[in-house]
Amino acid sequence: MENLIKALKAAGEPTRIRILAALSQYELTVTELVSLLSQSQPRVSRHLKLLLEAGLVSRFQEGSWVFQRLSESPVTAQITRMINLDDPELKQDSERLGRIKVQNARLATDYFAANAGDWDQVRTMVGSDESIEVAMLEAIQGRNFDNMIDMGTGTGRIVEIFATHADKITAYDSSQEMLKLARTKFEQAGLNHCQARLGDITALPAAAGSAELITIHQVLHYLDSPFAVIEEAKRLLAPNGLILIVDFAKHQHEFLRTEHAHRRLGFADSEVQFWCDNNQLSLNRSQKITHNDSRNGLDVMLWVLEPATH
Ligand SMILES: C[S@@+](CC[C@H](N)C(=O)[O-])C[C@H]1O[C@@H](n2cnc3c(N)ncnc32)[C@H](O)[C@@H]1O
Repeated sequence: MENLIKALKAAGEPTRIRILAALSQYELTVTELVSLLSQSQPRVSRHLKLLLEAGLVSRFQEGSWVFQRLSESPVTAQITRMINLDDPELKQDSERLGRIKVQNARLATDYFAANAGDWDQVRTMVGSDESIEVAMLEAIQGRNFDNMIDMGTGTGRIVEIFATHADKITAYDSSQEMLKLARTKFEQAGLNHCQARLGDITALPAAAGSAELITIHQVLHYLDSPFAVIEEAKRLLAPNGLILIVDFAKHQHEFLRTEHAHRRLGFADSEVQFWCDNNQLSLNRSQKITHNDSRNGLDVMLWVLEPATH
């Protein structure tokens, strides 16, 4: 009862309702909330402090960025269900948020448009490619798949290494420049069963339950909402399917944000577990692939996800 009263008191204020409504749609940094609410940083921080103390919001720090998200408590879910996102002021906020997100996405899109030609070289700098590919292939244990989807395919390298393990592969990317290179790669290698398609990996034009293998290789750290990609992967996943995620282990290399358009500084097992718990998936393997230059290189993780059996 005490907790409920504290939560209701914290939520019962217009700016704080706006914050809760925004966080029900995205994880946001304080800077993004400041620009959304058009209020000073100290004011926004004061509101956030009250929401944090009432257990409605949680925060996590990554390098110099602090992300806010709704807490997982049932009271938070009950309170946010009462918020009507069709309210004119909240609708305006949603539109403004949409614009902030488009700007963020543009940073990554511009980066990939500018770096598409060099990507195969850049990707080897950030990870020990060969051991990652070996670990991915080991994870499928010699299985063959009718239908595979590669989410955020870039130049199509992951398709190339899985080409002999799937009858049909559809590779999606939002960058036309990357797709051009992927198509050329597939044509040159005679991979007629592999197609490169334009698509946003949070909402793909593919049927539910249609993919037995889904790969998401070095993509999630660019996204505003990695959770939305996992939700979409779960929608597409066949009941006996596998999702292979490769991304960085947690790190502190802030320059990757400024110079390489990263948003997230890697992921912890606990976050992947959270995605699984909320999407009826089970985390069957978490494998660290240590970079051979351990001082300057980044460790990479392979996570293997399957539909939860109950
Ligand atoms: C770092 S590259 C990785 C490419 C490839 N998986 C690899 O490892 O070589 C990330 C790719 O994700 C794509 N991407 C980022 N956000 C996306 C989105 N929302 N929908 C589709 N593709 C996206 C980018 O265009 C880029 O080609």
